[in-house]
Amino acid sequence: MEKLVIEGGKPLSGAISVHGAKNAALPILAASIMAEGTVTITNVPELSDIKVMLDILQALGCKAEQSGDTVTVDTTKAREHHIPERLMSQMRSSIFLMGPLLARLGKVELYQPGGCAIGERKIDLHLKGLAELGVDIVEENGRIVCTAKELTGADIVLDYPSVGATENIMMAAAMARGKTTISNAAREPEIQDLQHFLNAMGANIIGAGTDTITVEGASQLVPCTHRIIPDRIVTGTILIAAAVTKGNVTLKNVCASHLTSALHVMKRAGVHIAVDGDIMNVSAPSRLKAVERVITSPYPAFPTDLQSQMMVLLSLAEGVSIVKETVFEGRFKHVDELSRMGADIRVDFNSAIIRGVPRLYGATVEATDLRAGAALVIAGLAAQGTTVIEQIHHIDRGYDRIELMLRQLGASIHRTTPVSKEL
Ligand code: EPZ
Repeated sequence: MEKLVIEGGKPLSGAISVHGAKNAALPILAASIMAEGTVTITNVPELSDIKVMLDILQALGCKAEQSGDTVTVDTTKAREHHIPERLMSQMRSSIFLMGPLLARLGKVELYQPGGCAIGERKIDLHLKGLAELGVDIVEENGRIVCTAKELTGADIVLDYPSVGATENIMMAAAMARGKTTISNAAREPEIQDLQHFLNAMGANIIGAGTDTITVEGASQLVPCTHRIIPDRIVTGTILIAAAVTKGNVTLKNVCASHLTSALHVMKRAGVHIAVDGDIMNVSAPSRLKAVERVITSPYPAFPTDLQSQMMVLLSLAEGVSIVKETVFEGRFKHVDELSRMGADIRVDFNSAIIRGVPRLYGATVEATDLRAGAALVIAGLAAQGTTVIEQIHHIDRGYDRIELMLRQLGASIHRTTPVSKEL
């Protein structure tokens, strides 16, 4: 298996452009199937999750290709409504095909996406919302068969502001007959980007970014071109890596307003962040300060996807910090690995008590999920000595060649490929 090898202790410096947002690109790629013809999407990151989504679109009859950061999807021949289990199991985000396929074909057959390292990750809110739009749902032996003679608008109230459920319902409602309101909707920037894309295809949606989204159903959508927003989680990851290595980094193609809560916490820890339009500069003093309490919650609160990375920063800060994870019930898998590098963290149910230490030490550690893996990279960059990170396929799901990104900023990091047996 491939590994990342990091020689720690080098301050990051220089400039880097941040790639497009995985969590905007995935639902938007799924939504492309709602119009007949060729959709062009730019600023799409080159990630394994994106590759899986393109494979799914091709399995459904589309022609889907990525060249650099540009993806074209020709949906003319999209006829298949069954999502192959082998692709479902590779990526939960295949669930985003439900709304679009119901809108385009009136049916979809898929498999329960199952949980993952960070939690159970149910889809009951997706199914409940789609049922209110008139979808008939039959679940048997892990398979889900959805059919809708006609999608009809409804007033939907989400029990929890689920990002995926908001997006799935929004996509189905975009071609339902009549008006749909989604109350207690998630407010993430990626949902605003999806609204922008759907409206460019002729949908009639307002309110994304607020807790109430209103959709007037359209009878047909047409192809469009669209540019994906910058990835706020990759931006936050690089900011934290620069801070813990006492570096000085300029980030381009970023959107500071998508990271208000995270920037506030970093500044409370003593990180210096200057914003000038779509450019940010970050630097930090030799020792950062503990932050009394960091609580993850739905946007615009502190993002759960930066929780593990922030824990590394707090592990090296002066004093005691508490991190409370309220979004996913299993998102502390990185704590054991960070402890092996010398961090002093005690977990109490969904809170982690972090006592800052002067330094971390290199070790051989294992990525358990995407953002936990990113946290281990940050810890390796700051640590004294050599860190080897295993199971790095998790990291490749959300970071486009992370070692090239960081080497561009002066890090000593490389990817080892296994020596093949027959040599
Ligand atoms: C999206 O996942 C993101 N993924 C996640 O990013 C992100 O952590 C999450 O939103 C929260 O911001 C993509 O956009 C592809 P949710 P999603 O539905 O839609 C529960 C990353 O690292 N829930 O808002 O799956 C669920 O179990 C990934 O890039 C239900 O109970 O998140 C969880 O506890 C990780 N029933 C909570 O809600 C449902 O039907 C939040 O889930 C749906 C969700």
